[in-house]
Amino acid sequence: MAIERTLSIVKPDGVKAGLTGEILKRFESAGLVIAALRMTRLTMQEAQAFYDVHQERPFFESLTKFMCSGPIVVSVLEGGDAIRRNRELMGATDPAQADSGTIRREYASNIEHNIVHGSDAPETASREIGFFFTESDLVRGVRR
Ligand code: CMP
Repeated sequence: MAIERTLSIVKPDGVKAGLTGEILKRFESAGLVIAALRMTRLTMQEAQAFYDVHQERPFFESLTKFMCSGPIVVSVLEGGDAIRRNRELMGATDPAQADSGTIRREYASNIEHNIVHGSDAPETASREIGFFFTESDLVRGVRR
C-alpha cells in the first residue's frame, strides 16, 4: 500500500465544540500518524485562496466566512492509503448522508458546518499541505 500524506482540518465548529482531541484520537487509533500539527485562524483572503476551486459555488461566501470565524487545527496525516482512509473516518460531506460511526455523522450539524476537512486526491493533498506547511515542518520517523 502506498504511503500517502493528506491534509486534515478541524474546522471552527469542531474546535469550538472541544472536539479537537477526539478527532485526532480517531485518526491515531486508525493507524494514521500525525506528521505536522498547528492551530491557526484563517483570514478571509486565506480562506478564499484555500477554497478557490469553489469560488463559483453559491455557498462560497458563507463557507469562507465560516472558515475564518474561529481557530482551526490543521494537520498532516501520514500512512498507507491515508487520503482514502481519512475520508472514510470523516464520512460524507453531508452528515445526513454519512455512515454511522463517522466523524461527520456523529458531530456535524449540516453540509457546511461539517466539523472536518480532508484532501480528496493526491494532487489536492500536495497543494493543501503546501498551503499550511513547509517541507521542514513535516516530521520524519514518526511512523510506527
Ligand atoms: P470540505 O470538505 O471542507 O470541502 C468544501 C466544503 O464546502 C465542504 O467541506 C462543505 O463545508 C462545503 N460545502 C460543500 N457543499 C456544500 C453545499 N451544498 N452547501 C454548503 N456548503 C457546502
